[in-house]
Amino acid sequence: MGIAGGDVGKAPGISIRPATASDADVVGYLLADAAGPLAAPIWGGGSIERTRERFAGLFACWGGSDDHFVACEDQRVVGVIAHTADRTDPWQSLRASLATMRVYGVLGSMALSWRMRHMVSAEPPFVRNSYSVWNLAVAEEQRRRGIGTKLLRHAHTGAREAGALTVGLEVLIGNTAAIRFYENAGYKERRRRESAGLRKMTGAPGLIYMVRAVKDDDQAAARTPSR
Ligand SMILES: CC(C)(COP(=O)(O)OP(=O)(O)OC[C@H]1O[C@@H](n2cnc3c(N)ncnc32)[C@H](O)[C@@H]1OP(=O)(O)O)[C@@H](O)C(=O)NCCC(=O)NCCS
Repeated sequence: MGIAGGDVGKAPGISIRPATASDADVVGYLLADAAGPLAAPIWGGGSIERTRERFAGLFACWGGSDDHFVACEDQRVVGVIAHTADRTDPWQSLRASLATMRVYGVLGSMALSWRMRHMVSAEPPFVRNSYSVWNLAVAEEQRRRGIGTKLLRHAHTGAREAGALTVGLEVLIGNTAAIRFYENAGYKERRRRESAGLRKMTGAPGLIYMVRAVKDDDQAAARTPSR
């Protein structure tokens, strides 16, 4: 995908590049922390340390996939995002399953799938021509510097290039900071789904699907040319 990193706006000095397997440790750390209450009970047997290790292991296997990008400052990774036009690509699904098998083992993968049954997607059925964003995280000490916005704009560029009409994502009910962040970027809640099982296991009541029209990006850019 021909998306330039760009170095303008509120986070000067931050560049964006495709993630590689060598970013696994830092990406694993960022994603484990970003997944918040979900992460440890589902992916790490209750331990945040184990969750970070497992996410790093999973990412090391996926690292060559072309849907993850990292934000860097002086070569240091300070944020991550994943975006793609097609999350149902069978080749990527196979790679994800193999990575899970390698990190968790056969029985561990089955147990993970069992726990994941509570993650009921809030995405409405029959969403057409929508671009997907997920795995967005900025290092805690680097937040409110515009890095998340820069990463999200990278995804919006991908969506425009892919000819998508909308960009959609899921966020945990109760993740107020992220919801404010997405609202600030023009996303609106489309659907929410609660899950008693998820609440019981993680304390998180469920998921919200938020969506934004791709054409809004041009309008926002016209309103705020400096960001
Ligand atoms: C959500 C997240 C990616 C935002 O990244 P960020 O780099 O801090 O975001 P930005 O600096 O670009 O913020 C842009 C605007 O979003 C809004 N915003 C961001 N964080 C906010 C917060 N904690 N509370 C309220 N509004 C917030 C503000 O309007 C902000 O503009 P301002 O700083 O000029 O007021 C970051 O908080 C994060 O990594 N959170 C943990 C992981 C997570 O929840 N990811 C989303 C999973 S769906």
